[in-house]
Amino acid sequence: MHIPVLINEVIQYLDPKNNQNFVDCTLGFAGHSKVILERIKPNGKVLGIEWDGEVCQKIAGEGIERLIAVNDSYTNLKEIAKRESFGPVSGILLDLGISSWDLEQSGRGFSFQEDEPLDMRFNNQLSIINSLTAQEIINEWSEEEIAKILAEYGQERFARNIAKNIVDTRYRQPIETTFQLVEVIRKSFPRSYKFGRAHFATKTFQALRIATNNELANLQNVLPQAMELLAPGGRLVVISFHSLEDRIVKNFFREQQKQNNLQIITKKPVVAGSAEARDNSRACSAKLRAAKLIINN
Ligand SMILES: C[S@@+](CC[C@H](N)C(=O)[O-])C[C@H]1O[C@@H](n2cnc3c(N)ncnc32)[C@H](O)[C@@H]1O
Repeated sequence: MHIPVLINEVIQYLDPKNNQNFVDCTLGFAGHSKVILERIKPNGKVLGIEWDGEVCQKIAGEGIERLIAVNDSYTNLKEIAKRESFGPVSGILLDLGISSWDLEQSGRGFSFQEDEPLDMRFNNQLSIINSLTAQEIINEWSEEEIAKILAEYGQERFARNIAKNIVDTRYRQPIETTFQLVEVIRKSFPRSYKFGRAHFATKTFQALRIATNNELANLQNVLPQAMELLAPGGRLVVISFHSLEDRIVKNFFREQQKQNNLQIITKKPVVAGSAEARDNSRACSAKLRAAKLIINN
């Protein structure tokens, strides 16, 4: 089951009040949205955007009152809000990354602990829009391109070794499943290397997921749209799960604050308290940043 991360902090910084409207750009199983909907009774609405058709269908099927669930990418945020005649918008939430359902039940190869096909697309139904799969990256991209994404998106120290072993292995047989890839990664570390607490495949899997879904570009694309959509005084809250995402959010907020468009309301990124970090492993790496719109462009 997916437990929403930093839920108290999301509510604190979004500050939802009766009859206001909010956008949840990463609806998932509506963990955050359900709590927001409680606070904006009786007439406030949430526009929930979810790229994954399967997840969106499940949540729409719950018939949650005052939730408008849309199966689309948040990169189309302004267009979606216009199409749904949704507004004024008092706050926007982005809870980036992956849900427990993606890891445990999607069957799409997000987890190195399950033997599944290497797909890793969030939106594997809308294949015309996002046809790139992790399998294609692994079996068709050049060694240099693979090494580059592992180094950049995974900050994997052994990116070059892993990329070389991927190319050597696929020459004999295509790498089609997560367990096949895990074996290649395992062989890419020096024998003497002492593994830390994280699984040795963590960084490679993270890098592949980011590349498959174009996640960093998506984030860069949605932030200015979110700012344009907010009503004056409206709040933008972003939860990120690795330093690359966090840096994009931090730099965007700082730049907009300099231009007097946004006021940053979290001096430092907000992280989970010890109890939440103990009970929900996803929360350990979560960082929340929030800002308030000063002027509406
Ligand atoms: C961390 S989960 C959100 C969980 C949700 N906040 C909850 O508490 O139930 C992130 C969700 O964002 C979705 N997602 C990823 N990229 C997206 C995009 N570009 N547009 C819309 N949804 C996206 C994923 O499919 C996933 O369901």
